Amino acid sequence: MKDYPQILFKNRRPGETLFLDGYRAAGGYGALKKALTQMTPQEVIDEVKNAGLRGRGGSGFPTGQKWAFFPAQKAGVKYLVCNGDEMEPGTYKDRQLLLADPHQLIEGMIIAAYALQIDIGYIFLRYAYEDCARRVERAIAEARQAGYLGNDILGSGFFCDLRLHRSAGRYILGEETALLNGLEGRRPNPRAKPPFPVNQGLFDRPTVINNVETLANVPHIINGGADWYRGVALTAEGAGSKIFGLSGHLEATPCVELPLGVPLGEIIEHYGGGVWRGRRFKACLPGGASTPYLTRAHLDLPMDFDAVQGARSRLGTACITVFDDRTCMLAATLNLIRFFARESCGWCTPCRDGLVMVTWLLEKIEGGTASMDDVYMLQDQMRNISGQAMTGAMWGPMRGEYVFKVGSRAFCPLADGAMAPVEALLRLFRDE
Ligand code: NAI
Repeated sequence: MKDYPQILFKNRRPGETLFLDGYRAAGGYGALKKALTQMTPQEVIDEVKNAGLRGRGGSGFPTGQKWAFFPAQKAGVKYLVCNGDEMEPGTYKDRQLLLADPHQLIEGMIIAAYALQIDIGYIFLRYAYEDCARRVERAIAEARQAGYLGNDILGSGFFCDLRLHRSAGRYILGEETALLNGLEGRRPNPRAKPPFPVNQGLFDRPTVINNVETLANVPHIINGGADWYRGVALTAEGAGSKIFGLSGHLEATPCVELPLGVPLGEIIEHYGGGVWRGRRFKACLPGGASTPYLTRAHLDLPMDFDAVQGARSRLGTACITVFDDRTCMLAATLNLIRFFARESCGWCTPCRDGLVMVTWLLEKIEGGTASMDDVYMLQDQMRNISGQAMTGAMWGPMRGEYVFKVGSRAFCPLADGAMAPVEALLRLFRDE
């Protein structure tokens, strides 16, 4: 097993949480001091932009670009929100970060707040993560006590405070605009985008929303610099490290920090101990239930955002769920679609009714009572929900209508994400 540098997990010890004294002893809050005393807010934004940091919540959107869109100089209240509503099936990386090292996130948030000239930040945390919530609350209190939060932080004149908000406990709350409605105490239906939250977010004020892992990277970028950070990844396109959380049919299912660009097969063999019970690898979800399957053909694929996208999938959360060669991919997909159908907020028709229809069609196929018309109807639902086009066997007289992607018809990415494994099922496991 190669000894890759540990950056985000450098303070992680089994069963332990590092609080303020230990964090400071390990160099913690040094990056905050550097940012506040040696860098302008714009220089912090530029450093993050040059580092090539991409959103670790699943979308891979360039963080520096998002920050550059933010009207930092605009007068009035602005917000920073950390999205810790980690409810993507198979995904548990943010939890590991918070259990091990909550101050790392807090330092990252204060630096982000300074860069964007924000004075209030919320940590929006998954309902089931009460163990993390208690640690984050203690860390916030410690940071306040030590003068890292509140007035005149480290004598810089900068004010910032953070608050923890526990989610109400539904998957849709992780969608950033539903999350904002939840924070405001409203029913968490997603909002239309644009306007994007950077322009009109929490209480209609400019709001930057970043994932836990994304923000946890910020102190390291400030300490090490953009060139160092880019060099951590194994591929030229990648930047930095990534937390990979393994699950499924493996001998071991650890959560590990690796440079972006480590091949899929190496992760499965070295860190997952190989496929369990001596069986063969059949497929995996590379980064949560809303990412299309990868197969044996992809074992050499470098796990970075661009390479996985090039293989018609997405890196997503990089929490990899592995399926062995005895898995029925239809049954696995049906299991996922039942989850998505249950978690639909019901706001838009393609998602609310379409996912029920897709569940029914997959159940029919799984039960052995379907005809090819049901497969065509499944394709039609795919087109109707996410606009995804299937080339090849299209529905008779309407052939040709489906050969281009028309874009999502659902209000938010939930339904699109739900259809990702269904699309991959039809493309990669059609014979099943
Ligand atoms: P997105 O790609 O639509 O947006 C990414 C971010 O960039 C958002 O913050 C958005 O506001 C911002 N953005 C995009 N274009 C912009 C523009 N022109 N101006 C200003 N800001 C802009 O993706 P989204 O909807 O935020 O997330 C979808 C992803 O979430 C999926 O890829 C999925 O993998 C992941 N996901 C993660 C979960 C988890 O538990 N971590 C749960 C469910 C989904």
